Amino acid sequence: MITEKQVYDALSGVMDPELGRSLVELGMIRNVTISRGGVVAFTLAFTIAGCPLKQKIERDAREAVMKLPGVKQVNITQSVMSEEERKALFPPGATELPQLNKFNKIDRVIAVMSGKGGVGKSSITALLACELARQGKKIGILDADITGPSIPRLFGLPPGGLRGSEQGILPAISGLGIRVMSSNLLVPTEEAAVIWRGPLIAGSIQQFWRDVLWGRLDVLLVDLPPGTSDAALTVMQTLPVNGVVLVSTPQQLAGMVVRKADSMLKQLNIPVLGVVENMSYYPCPDGGGNHEIFGPSHVEELAAAVGAQRWLKLPLDPRVALLGDTGRIEEYRAENLQEILTLFS
Ligand SMILES: Nc1ncnc2c1ncn2[C@@H]1O[C@H](COP(=O)(O)OP(=O)(O)OP(=O)(O)O)[C@@H](O)[C@H]1O
Ligand SMILES: [Mg+2]
Repeated sequence: MITEKQVYDALSGVMDPELGRSLVELGMIRNVTISRGGVVAFTLAFTIAGCPLKQKIERDAREAVMKLPGVKQVNITQSVMSEEERKALFPPGATELPQLNKFNKIDRVIAVMSGKGGVGKSSITALLACELARQGKKIGILDADITGPSIPRLFGLPPGGLRGSEQGILPAISGLGIRVMSSNLLVPTEEAAVIWRGPLIAGSIQQFWRDVLWGRLDVLLVDLPPGTSDAALTVMQTLPVNGVVLVSTPQQLAGMVVRKADSMLKQLNIPVLGVVENMSYYPCPDGGGNHEIFGPSHVEELAAAVGAQRWLKLPLDPRVALLGDTGRIEEYRAENLQEILTLFS
């Protein structure tokens, strides 16, 4: 007769690949029943509803139990942990995060996120970093957009040429002293494509956190790929993110997708600190006032909907694109960005 203990023992060898802990240790296995005919049934409670690894985890769990002598069939029912269970598993400041290199001390980690692509996340990450650096803060940017990195280009940092030491990889340093780590600094030419699958991407994000000699930083900004992708989830689940700045544009659709991002953050208990509406208006150069090219602003409602403390509008300004494309983003001053900098201290 198969025992419950055997089932648990088999499942304690199955890992949640993202969290690096076993399904048993994470409390994901429930209601184990074993029938005489060798049918084992149990519930698999995922930590979040949208767990991207659901299928893999279920497959691994099934395989592990099938290996037990006498097991003919494995029936798995999927469920999702309650808010309380999740909180108990990931208390604020929990130590299940990958160890930070002992030479690093990072006070705050802020991720810049959007619902959809091309709304200006990377530009705004760079501009925020510049304003903070001008205030004398020590700033780093971790470019978590592994397959579409754009941070080095904005700062005119060439590919290759990163130096390593026994303690870790040294980040590139911008004119204003911002420390930058990006997959585009590791490839031989800017055009070389990084075509990696999920697990490699997740691995390199963790490496950028762990193996880079950031030193002492006041703020590490994390530029995310668009949306609620795997990579965004990896950042949120494996780095100690203190909060998020959401970037959107005035289009309704952009707002809708931002709310989707917000719902992922709620599930992970990460607060939205500020909302930036980019390309909010176009200031007519000959004094004709501000034109709302992409329609009326929704930033105030959006900020209220996601519970953000601050919101901000940035204009559509061809100089952002021009200076960004030529590696001179540090020359751009967005005066009103100052208004949200207090969120970072
Ligand atoms: N306020 C602005 N005014 C004019 N152009 C802008 C502004 N903000 C961003 N851009 C331009 O829009 C384009 C997209 O910006 P950016 O790369 O920062 O967006 P993103 O959200 O990071 O994109 P992705 O989703 O691809 O990572 C770039 O060419 C950038 O120069
Ligand atoms: Mg980007």
